[in-house]
Amino acid sequence: MTTSHGTGPLRLGIAGLGTVGAGVIKIIQRRAALLTARTGREIEVVAVSARNRDKDRGVRLKDYAWEDDPVALARRDDIDLFVELMGGSDGPAKVATETAIATGKDVVTANKAMLALHGQALATAAEDAGVALRFEAAVAGGIPVVKALTEGLAGNEVQRVMGVMNGTCNYILTRMESAGLPYDEVFEEANALGYLEADPTLDVGGIDAGHKLSLLSSIAFGTQVDFAAVELEGIQRIEFADIEQARDMGYRIKLLGVTQMTGRGLEQRMSPCLVPADSPLGQLEGGTNMVVLEGDAVGQIVMRGAGAGEGPTASAVLSDILDIARGIRVSTFGQPASSLVKPVPAKAAAPAAFYLRMQLQDKPGALARVAAVLGEAGVSINRMRQYSHAEGTAPVLFVTHKCPRAALDAALAGMGKTGVVEGEPIAIRIEEV
Ligand SMILES: NC(=O)c1ccc[n+]([C@@H]2O[C@H](COP(=O)([O-])OP(=O)(O)OC[C@H]3O[C@@H](n4cnc5c(N)ncnc54)[C@H](OP(=O)(O)O)[C@@H]3O)[C@@H](O)[C@H]2O)c1
Repeated sequence: MTTSHGTGPLRLGIAGLGTVGAGVIKIIQRRAALLTARTGREIEVVAVSARNRDKDRGVRLKDYAWEDDPVALARRDDIDLFVELMGGSDGPAKVATETAIATGKDVVTANKAMLALHGQALATAAEDAGVALRFEAAVAGGIPVVKALTEGLAGNEVQRVMGVMNGTCNYILTRMESAGLPYDEVFEEANALGYLEADPTLDVGGIDAGHKLSLLSSIAFGTQVDFAAVELEGIQRIEFADIEQARDMGYRIKLLGVTQMTGRGLEQRMSPCLVPADSPLGQLEGGTNMVVLEGDAVGQIVMRGAGAGEGPTASAVLSDILDIARGIRVSTFGQPASSLVKPVPAKAAAPAAFYLRMQLQDKPGALARVAAVLGEAGVSINRMRQYSHAEGTAPVLFVTHKCPRAALDAALAGMGKTGVVEGEPIAIRIEEV
């Protein structure tokens, strides 16, 4: 069996030479002496793989062997560590990762989609083969949150993990606010700037951030990755009016991931939330990411930094590579894969206060009818605002007292029969951070 323990060079095979792969090679070439000084070993790239051999990637590749097929690269017996930077939950990334594990190589990947769907199987396979599988770069780019949870906070019972982990969504929401632009216009702008994935729903639908949240849940609560149970809601329905009115009430809207173990089971949500404007999460601007970790002994820790891009993501990949070079072996999800328990998903999220916006007909008694429907469902009103009238209707906002989401949904379902609410009301959870 090939092993990366030892004092000779750590020999890498890198599959994927795009933004992240090229970034990793740049650091290895530019900082060779530093990396060797820190690990006592040379970090040597032996072979690489990508689809197009002729593409200029801004890095020198001629010293490395080339493989057209990443699976052939994973199988080579002159590498110790397989670095998977191709992406995609299945297909070549998964087959090559399985091959590397089966042939005794350690694996480092940045692939959250693959781990969110196959993390348990891959971690088990790695453990059975006695190799490492690490993924610092898969969550929040340059922020070393995987290391913080698995190592730095290993002595804590984790209470809650929250995060803004999709820079594109945060860019869209903060740009809508600063420029006073509607969602569609900022979405197009983000697309033109190349900020969106080829399938934009991965970003704006919360899927990419949901993948990351499911990985953090596993480490935080010792559970098997359960992406299917993440309650997902994207930012597509957020209007400038919501952002403006939330701000008026001292909040900002973020696509926020929250995971916590409750008496009702594991709660995992990735959805737009209102957070206090003066909280660290509320102050987060542009494409930056933030992860908030809460442990019983440590209290709250806030980590903030670049969640994507060549340098930050490569920085995270190097962290894993250097751990392996140093002989530091940590289980993929912080404890042996065989000891991770299958989580019971919480059927409903913890009760919360909600922001409600609806378009109300300007008729006598309209407000009373809405208040009655809310009351019947057990939703009580904490604050209310009515904005200026336009063409016979007026936007009305409510902030509710804490209530179960089911009660709110029952109230929303009853709004149609009031005969005074136009269109679909918008409801956004207010998160206590
Ligand atoms: N970009 C970021 O900021 C970021 C942040 C965190 C995590 N990640 C993750 O890092 C991974 C890589 O992302 P990226 O942004 O670097 O992607 P990218 O720029 O699209 O690069 C992907 C690379 O994989 C190669 N590739 C794709 N399919 C292949 C195949 N079948 N055989 C061989 N090579 C193949 C491509 O080859 P060609 O170049 O020849 O087409 C390309 O070099 C993904 O899992 C992503 O989710 C990225």
